[in-house]
Amino acid sequence: MRNEEFRPERCCFLFGAGRADRAPETSLPEVAVAGRSNVGKSSLINFLLGRRGLARTSGMPGRTQELNFFSVDERLVLVDLPGYGYARAPWEEVRRWLEAIARFVRGREALRGVVLLLDIRRDPSPEDQAFARMVRDAERLLLPVVTKADKVARGQRPGRLAAIAAAIGVAPTELRVTSTKDRLGRGETWKGILAMVEGAAGPAPVGSAPPRALVVAVDGPSGAGKSTVARSLAGRLGWNHVDTGAMYRSIGLKADRLGVALDDDAALEAVCRETRLELGRRPDGTLAVLLDGEDVSEAIREHRVSELASRVSARAPVRAAMTGYQRELGLASPSVLEGRDIGTVVFPDAVLKVYLTASDLERAERRARELELRGEPVDREQLLGDLRERDRADSVRAHAPLRQAPDAVVVDTTGRGVDEVVELLVQLVHEAVGGGAPTTAGDPAAVRELSPVRK
Ligand code: DC
Repeated sequence: MRNEEFRPERCCFLFGAGRADRAPETSLPEVAVAGRSNVGKSSLINFLLGRRGLARTSGMPGRTQELNFFSVDERLVLVDLPGYGYARAPWEEVRRWLEAIARFVRGREALRGVVLLLDIRRDPSPEDQAFARMVRDAERLLLPVVTKADKVARGQRPGRLAAIAAAIGVAPTELRVTSTKDRLGRGETWKGILAMVEGAAGPAPVGSAPPRALVVAVDGPSGAGKSTVARSLAGRLGWNHVDTGAMYRSIGLKADRLGVALDDDAALEAVCRETRLELGRRPDGTLAVLLDGEDVSEAIREHRVSELASRVSARAPVRAAMTGYQRELGLASPSVLEGRDIGTVVFPDAVLKVYLTASDLERAERRARELELRGEPVDREQLLGDLRERDRADSVRAHAPLRQAPDAVVVDTTGRGVDEVVELLVQLVHEAVGGGAPTTAGDPAAVRELSPVRK
């Protein structure tokens, strides 16, 4: 690993915090990324994490005063600090931002060091210099990283690097030189970041609380919009999307193919034991479901499989096996799980529980359109009847029936667009995980108070 370029595999957005002094603790060593607005911070973070769009720029210098936390292979946390200045920003404002960030850097115990980004075309500004001094005074490591190297001709780079290094008091060889456009400097920057973490960190302190599973539970009846909303929410957060209905569908399909009676618990238990289920994502973002290695993503969506799934999902051994698997997935990495019993049974301590509903007419219509798109013939009246019957069966069954967790946020999606619902949920996740909701204000006085973490 030492000689190879580090490539993080499991990166995800953990949470955003509206105020530097109220950011929740994490259980990993942290490295912050800082720099003036427009220095290329979001694009460098995305480049380092190997994920497009995970860190997002506000598009408006100085408009984002939020801190965003990203987990990297459960090894360290990268903290995206707000940009602290932009051309013609009033000094008074820049000073207040710098002070807020300085309090964070000084007070944050888990913080090992700061990556300071500097644009190759500019001489470091007085605030860049003040920032570098503050980091050293706070006894944190400083990793100066020069961005946008492609913007100056190769021959001019040594001169620019010498000027930048002198201005912030380091040797030119201490600078990492990057260009996201030319995919330059990732390995070197990671080496510097890992050295900060490994040099000072060691294992997590004994007695620290085990991290809480970062899970959003999305429950509700079929056709309420769970899959669309959960997929989109997971995409926005950079979390995994786990469609638990697809698991029950796969088991129903396999049991049916094997001719197993759908109420034969012993046989169903054996089916679950001998089944390898894998949920993956295709390059286009759609869900791929592999049943013993076979791609059944399409087959499990057939109308007749809904009935099979509903029947096997009422059986205790099937629920026990699926629940265990779902817990493993949710504990392994931050996830949005959708189903019927996620907030009540699988993750009763989910950071956010959402119960999606919609009128049964609208739900039946959505299912009809879905089936039509796949070329299945649809009898709308029959479909509505089937849907009501399945709702009833899912709600009255003895094991983990469909019901609303008392602390779930109920969202009726009738007549509401996906984007609107997802936007609301992103805000709720940010609040529930302890960060403030993203703010659009450049004025720190306008940042929102944090909501208490839901227990
Ligand atoms: O969400 P869906 O239509 O793909 O779910 C298929 C069936 O599986 C549905 O009848 C309910 C059941 N199910 C369940 O009982 N528990 C879950 N967590 C998810 C789905």
